[in-house]
Amino acid sequence: MSLKEHFHRLKKKMRPKTYVDKIVDKAIHLNADSKKVIVFPETDVIILKACSAILKRKIAIPLIIGKKAELDVTLDRLRIRNLSDPYILDHLDEKNKAQFESFVTEFYDMRKKDGKEISLDEARVLISKPQYYGAMLVYKSVADGMISGINSETKPYNPAFQIIKTKSGVPKASGMMIMEREHELLFFADIALNINPTAEELAAIALTSATTVSELGTEPKIAMLSFSTRDSAKHEMVEKVKLATKLAKEKSPELIIDGEIQLDAAIVPEVALKKCKDSVLHGKANVLIFPDLNSGNIGYKLVQRLGGFKALGPIMQGLNKPINDLSRGASVEDVVELAAITVLQMQQ
Ligand SMILES: CC(C)(COP(=O)(O)OP(=O)(O)OC[C@H]1O[C@@H](n2cnc3c(N)ncnc32)[C@H](O)[C@@H]1OP(=O)(O)O)[C@@H](O)C(=O)NCCC(=O)NCCS
Repeated sequence: MSLKEHFHRLKKKMRPKTYVDKIVDKAIHLNADSKKVIVFPETDVIILKACSAILKRKIAIPLIIGKKAELDVTLDRLRIRNLSDPYILDHLDEKNKAQFESFVTEFYDMRKKDGKEISLDEARVLISKPQYYGAMLVYKSVADGMISGINSETKPYNPAFQIIKTKSGVPKASGMMIMEREHELLFFADIALNINPTAEELAAIALTSATTVSELGTEPKIAMLSFSTRDSAKHEMVEKVKLATKLAKEKSPELIIDGEIQLDAAIVPEVALKKCKDSVLHGKANVLIFPDLNSGNIGYKLVQRLGGFKALGPIMQGLNKPINDLSRGASVEDVVELAAITVLQMQQ
């Protein structure tokens, strides 16, 4: 280890643990109890370096889908020594033909059951894509989760929606971002998937977010955001948020949730006193549910870029098993942290 590396590690050890550090610790603990396998259907340098760190730090067991001979050359060039045979799966290798063909048939049957007419050849083309094959490995419980999407061609959405599917009672998967700045912690949803959710879908996003936040070890206090608080404005967009709040409350009466509510009334106690004295949130919401993808996606980027918060995610939520999407600009540390979150999602 170089002197620079040594001091970097020492500095990291000495600073107080962040929320993300604690997530990593929990993942290590869970992985020690029973090994958690995460499929990586991409072989970019960032992914390989992250997989090496994930294995070294005992966060999970990576399973990389790729051509072994090519990967061996790259790993050698990168001087990565801990990702040998058992961590690499060449899904198109002749030796793997039986499993490949069984996945093709199973996927074909699955699509047929879902009312989608595809041919066996079309199923074969899809299953030959590593992100589809990876989702089948998760579906068949060979692996426990998957992380993909550092490239636009390997985004995991369709394999996740078509193979893993949403949990019963969850109409749509959604995306959550963890926002952290020193001791401040907020969860934003949906910032990734649903462009203009209906009131029913918005209610489901709130309920699914409550589950994710609880799984990560925090009590959710949910604000259903709008440009109106307690009927201060009248518009169909406000009505949608009001209805979504009512539906979420009906489904989960024990939840701490309020809406429709403006952002300031949701997170600033003094403003809450003025605008909604009776709010169960008391201006201390930690889960912000945005009315549509415009506000959600723009909102988290404002907080990240102008507010100096670290954005971690997006976490794909509402699926039967954890499949997560990587931002195309993800760093090695981003991948490692998302792997830890993926392990925590396996507790369901
Ligand atoms: C997520 C997204 C890519 C899906 O688009 P799509 O592939 O055109 O979706 P389709 O409507 O054709 O649906 C494809 C399948 O996925 C399913 N699906 C789509 N969105 C889903 C969701 N949020 N949750 C679960 N399933 C979903 C559909 O039911 C459909 O299933 P089927 O093939 O069994 O019928 C699309 O909603 C989108 O572009 N969202 C915005 C993403 C974005 O730009 N985010 C901002 C940057 S992160």
